[in-house]
Amino acid sequence: MASWQEIYRSRLTTAEEAVTHIPNNCRVFFGHAANEPPVLVDALVKNYQQYENVEICHWVPMGTGEYTHPEYAGHFHYNGLFLGGVTRQCVKEGRGDYTPFFYHQSTRFFSDGTFPIDVVLVSVTPPDKNGYVNLGVSVGGTLPACKNAKIVIAQVNDQLPRTMGDGFLKVSEIDYFVEASTPLPEGGAGVVTPELDAIGKNIASLVEDGSTLQLGIGAIPDAVLSYLGDRKDLGIHSEMFSDGVVDLYQKGVVTGANKTLDKGKMVAAFLMGSKKLYDFVDDNPDVLMRRVDYVNNPAVICQNPKVVAINSCLQVDFNGQVNSESMGATQFSGIGGQLDYVRGAAMCPDGKAILAMPSTAKHGEISRIVPVFPEGTTVTTTRTDVHYIVTEYGIANLRGKSLRQRARLLIDIAHPKFREQLWEEFEKRYGKEG
Ligand code: COA
Repeated sequence: MASWQEIYRSRLTTAEEAVTHIPNNCRVFFGHAANEPPVLVDALVKNYQQYENVEICHWVPMGTGEYTHPEYAGHFHYNGLFLGGVTRQCVKEGRGDYTPFFYHQSTRFFSDGTFPIDVVLVSVTPPDKNGYVNLGVSVGGTLPACKNAKIVIAQVNDQLPRTMGDGFLKVSEIDYFVEASTPLPEGGAGVVTPELDAIGKNIASLVEDGSTLQLGIGAIPDAVLSYLGDRKDLGIHSEMFSDGVVDLYQKGVVTGANKTLDKGKMVAAFLMGSKKLYDFVDDNPDVLMRRVDYVNNPAVICQNPKVVAINSCLQVDFNGQVNSESMGATQFSGIGGQLDYVRGAAMCPDGKAILAMPSTAKHGEISRIVPVFPEGTTVTTTRTDVHYIVTEYGIANLRGKSLRQRARLLIDIAHPKFREQLWEEFEKRYGKEG
């Protein structure tokens, strides 16, 4: 039997050669977020004339998204599982697609024929002494994609951190290796404006000592974390986390001591942040990167104590329906793990699902609390699932409240300049307030 070293050497090639193994009429999946292998993606795009009808799909994009440009039509077709800034336009123009499914379903859908994957392009660490490579900062859905694809092509990147948990693959599970050292894309955190700071403060008031936190994408999670410096024994079980968690860990606030599952460990499916975060998780036994059918499974999420799920949204209607992913009928982002965590928190006896947004959009021109959604708007979290809505003006706990009560509570946390208009709409629906 060949040693892993022999297998590795025999499968080493160049990016240009590796991508020639991608057949026509197939589905190519990219490693998620910071796992996207830039050298392989560039070679694929450069070689575009060789391909016919290759579908490219992935979750959050952190690369250039060049393959979505109109000149690649007929060669590449983009099918996003979560849209970002570089991939939104092609879907908006009808040249690309969006496919909704819960993030935790990836494992099953990649293996049971619901969403089969032909080729995976991923980033891995150099092999360790036992012949294992590691997927680094994106394991959740990337590992199941690798396990189920017909062809796995990996960029071996010595700048990728090696993380503990599920993200290991044997050298023999990968078909082609391309060695290339490239820095990881950084991102995820936004600018904390005074408005987001006030939202962070409101959310933090709901976080008790010993809570298990899930933090979504964007600036709001970091705004919350800055107000948690005096809490004790917080735990992390989260689809993703970013730099803010590192600060709380270093201050001794995040200990995981109160967790039921993975006590003392921070658990995530992927990470998105700066080099500081990537250095922190490298070979760190306190951080476990796990498969998404575990991390995002509501039946797992609910087992930890005091689950607090913190996610952002775009719009909420009077009934408490939440849109977190579309502008009218135009897809803006995706569902990701939002509902996985809203439901996991709901199944946790003392859990809280928080959806937060600034009260206005478009530089204060429009209210995000609306009587009805514009035509075609997606409902991401249903009114039956919704729990807390938070803006910079306060907290509305909608659970167990009638539709009339919900509308009142939501108007109370709308921007003051829109409240009169919203009360008029309330009265049209429910009559004058006595
Ligand atoms: N109408 C028109 N424009 C709107 C709008 C509305 N109702 N709501 C927001 N916008 C605009 C904003 O003004 C902003 O524009 P700008 O970039 O010109 O300032 C832009 O849309 C983005 O809004 P913002 O609130 O800043 O979005 P964000 O980057 O904080 O992302 C979500 C928020 C909801 C899109 C993002 O968190 C998401 O996709 N969530 C769903 C998935 C999820 O929750 N996963 C959780 C597990 S990781």
